[in-house]
Amino acid sequence: MKKLVLIAMLGALVMTGCDRESVEIRGEPTLPLEKGDFTKPFAVPPLLKDEDPHPGRVEYSLSPRESSATFFEGKTTKTLGYDAPYLGPTITVKTGSRVKINVRNRLDETTTVHWHGLHVNGDDDGGPHQPIVPGATWSPSFYVRQPASTAWYHPHAEGSTAEQVYRGLAGLFYIDDGTAKNLNLPRDYGKDDFPLVVQDRIFSRNGRLVYKESTVFSRNGIFGDTILVNGVDEPLLKVGRGLVRLRLVNGSNARIYRFFLSDKSSFSQIASDGGFLDAPVVLKSLELSPGERAEIVVDFSEYEPGKSVFLLDEQFRIAKFVVSKKRARRKILPAKLAAIERLNEYDAQKTRKFVLESAGGGESSRDLTINGKSFDHSRIDDVVRAGALEIWEISNPSNYALHLNEHPMHIHGVSFQILSRDGRLPPRNERGWKDTVLLHEDETVRIIIKFADDKGTFMFHCHILEHEEAGMMSQYQLK
Ligand code: C2O
Ligand code: CU
Ligand code: CU
Repeated sequence: MKKLVLIAMLGALVMTGCDRESVEIRGEPTLPLEKGDFTKPFAVPPLLKDEDPHPGRVEYSLSPRESSATFFEGKTTKTLGYDAPYLGPTITVKTGSRVKINVRNRLDETTTVHWHGLHVNGDDDGGPHQPIVPGATWSPSFYVRQPASTAWYHPHAEGSTAEQVYRGLAGLFYIDDGTAKNLNLPRDYGKDDFPLVVQDRIFSRNGRLVYKESTVFSRNGIFGDTILVNGVDEPLLKVGRGLVRLRLVNGSNARIYRFFLSDKSSFSQIASDGGFLDAPVVLKSLELSPGERAEIVVDFSEYEPGKSVFLLDEQFRIAKFVVSKKRARRKILPAKLAAIERLNEYDAQKTRKFVLESAGGGESSRDLTINGKSFDHSRIDDVVRAGALEIWEISNPSNYALHLNEHPMHIHGVSFQILSRDGRLPPRNERGWKDTVLLHEDETVRIIIKFADDKGTFMFHCHILEHEEAGMMSQYQLK
């Protein structure tokens, strides 16, 4: 009911608040299964070229810029991209290498590039404290010393993160430490190892990306009715008859997905945000909130050639897979993946508590808080000693001022482990390395964090980007 009212309000707002073209918002379909033909080829972002010939060192260039893309035939959409019509190239680095990235801002507004999931110094993190003004170049450089994982990058400028991401700025950042090869996992980029950056968007009838007009959603989060995978809606992916690795990235501003396969078959999760799990976890469905990543392996080897299966969410069809005749080289998922060092809560030096709330009962658009405070660029909320082991206890009490009171809380610069959800052990697929954890309504989650010896200022925030911009972000300083 609440949702319907909001959609109606949004509709009204859109009708009055924009240019002459009429915007039609279809709203959330109740029975998505009947819609769409899924014939567009699945897109795989190109791999970014390393410009440094030295082994052990990589240098990359990246330029956010205005662009345009064709999402729907005959319609041109104004977008943003990193040297691309939409999204950006995939950066790949090896553990142990020195990385330099030159980010040249070709937009006519300030941006930043944050390496979500990377353990780097505050100055290289690309948060709100490293603005790149139009025309300027920012060149962070860091040493990669963390395990294999699927990380990503996106803007983080104060006040414009949500919209810049929405218009297309995001890309993948893969870290490889040799584990995938040692375990003989699917690892052939775009062949049996595919990224899926899943994003929901609102398009007007003539193909314009609708964002600002929907201000009624700006604090609750924007929810689109078109699902893009790597920038393509209703994609079709041909897969070999064998193991296929799907790296799911929730790159949406606000939408939480629960993924499953249309024939209800199970799949195995092999990695979470910060790296491989210690063993594959067999699942029938997987919840993924904004900012989170999960690598899953689907076994297509017993499917008849030509058979099709959909990746679904409870509300949407996301992608269609068609099994080809070709039998993939036989691969078996190993029983053990990576050894994960368990952080022991009795070794923790400190426990900090965080409560997620909204202050003004919803009147203001900046009223979302952590421990009663909205984000302030010039205020350090927590000082943490470099190298410390800490427990952070985050609670999310009921909140009637919010349309959706669930918060994927993300910490910059570290990976952590989840100790408990409401006093219980987390599900098995949440027992590996994480950097973003979803807080359901009325839930308390305890996590344990081993801080590195990095220094500087880092963000802790809700990854529903509109919540972050409404103030649900704090900063900690490592010293
Ligand atoms: Cu992916 Cu602070 O963000
Ligand atoms: Cu981050
Ligand atoms: Cu939130």
